[in-house]
Amino acid sequence: MEDLPAPDIGPGLVRVQVAFAAVNFPDVLIVADTYQLHAPPPFVPGSELAGVVTEVAPDVGTVTVGDRVTGTVLVGTFAEEAVVPATSVRPVPDGVDLRTAAAFGVAHRTANHVLLSVARLQSGEVLVVLGAGGGVGLAAVQLGALLGSEVVAVASSADKLAAASACGATHLVDHRTEDLRASLRAAFPRGVDVVVDPVGGDLAEPALRSLRWGGRFVTVGYASGVIPRIPLNLVLLKGVQVVGFEFAGFATNRLDELRRNDDELDALLASGRIVPHIGATYPLDDTAAALALVGRGEAIGKILIEIAP
Ligand SMILES: NC(=O)c1ccc[n+]([C@@H]2O[C@H](COP(=O)([O-])OP(=O)(O)OC[C@H]3O[C@@H](n4cnc5c(N)ncnc54)[C@H](OP(=O)(O)O)[C@@H]3O)[C@@H](O)[C@H]2O)c1
Repeated sequence: MEDLPAPDIGPGLVRVQVAFAAVNFPDVLIVADTYQLHAPPPFVPGSELAGVVTEVAPDVGTVTVGDRVTGTVLVGTFAEEAVVPATSVRPVPDGVDLRTAAAFGVAHRTANHVLLSVARLQSGEVLVVLGAGGGVGLAAVQLGALLGSEVVAVASSADKLAAASACGATHLVDHRTEDLRASLRAAFPRGVDVVVDPVGGDLAEPALRSLRWGGRFVTVGYASGVIPRIPLNLVLLKGVQVVGFEFAGFATNRLDELRRNDDELDALLASGRIVPHIGATYPLDDTAAALALVGRGEAIGKILIEIAP
């Protein structure tokens, strides 16, 4: 922890007094410099915030001082103040507190785009979520249940599965003690409809093998550190679709859809129909411990850094 001068503001930027920051898996990778995007050191880590705008550059017309906002950037949010592009922040819906808003960012937005626009999940379909205790996974469980699907949560501990159950999963698979393929075959002999995979590694192939003919497999991330190599004949024989989701590409190619999905998600949050699961909250002084927890894959739902609540 260090005291640094307040960051300078410049064209297109706004200054935010950070109330809460959220920890995301990429924060761990950015600090280790193993992420696909690089931050030249020294830098303040942290990619997600909720707080109050205290200054805006003269050319910014979309945000005003006093606005309550959430935002996503590459780095800079594990701090009392962050200076971020005005285009990177969104207003927090009225009636939603900043703690909840901080926990309802990248993970839920990712899961929402994946389910609505990539998997095109339908009510009544069987959705299998890998990494179901993590940020993206638990959000996918919540949103999948809300969309009327039958949700199978796959995770590595009883605590994670309990959280997934509380978020609407009706089938729970502990992949440390159960064989995923056998469990899914026993519960769904005709196969499952959709797999959402933010983990990669050894579970991707048995999950894909568990799809029904014509099912959809969405690859979202590789938290295990292993990018799976799927035999293409499986895709041919099962007639499945293997589709990827990545924010930058989606924002570039499907901006209108992205905005529509995000607006619908904000409405869900404002209505109270969805409340993000906050697994733990750390003071700013303990940010390193929060990053380590996420790095070990032990986070349940969202991990927050409390800065100026
Ligand atoms: N494509 C996109 O635009 C996009 C957007 C957001 C996030 N992501 C990616 O999605 C992935 C998941 O993000 P998240 O926020 O859900 O992460 P998270 O909360 O840390 O959850 C990751 C899950 O991965 C599993 N895992 C297995 N091995 C692991 C290991 N060695 N280290 C850490 N986790 C391990 C764990 O599930 P088990 O219980 O099964 O072990 C853990 O719950 C990350 O790779 C992230 O970069 C992609």
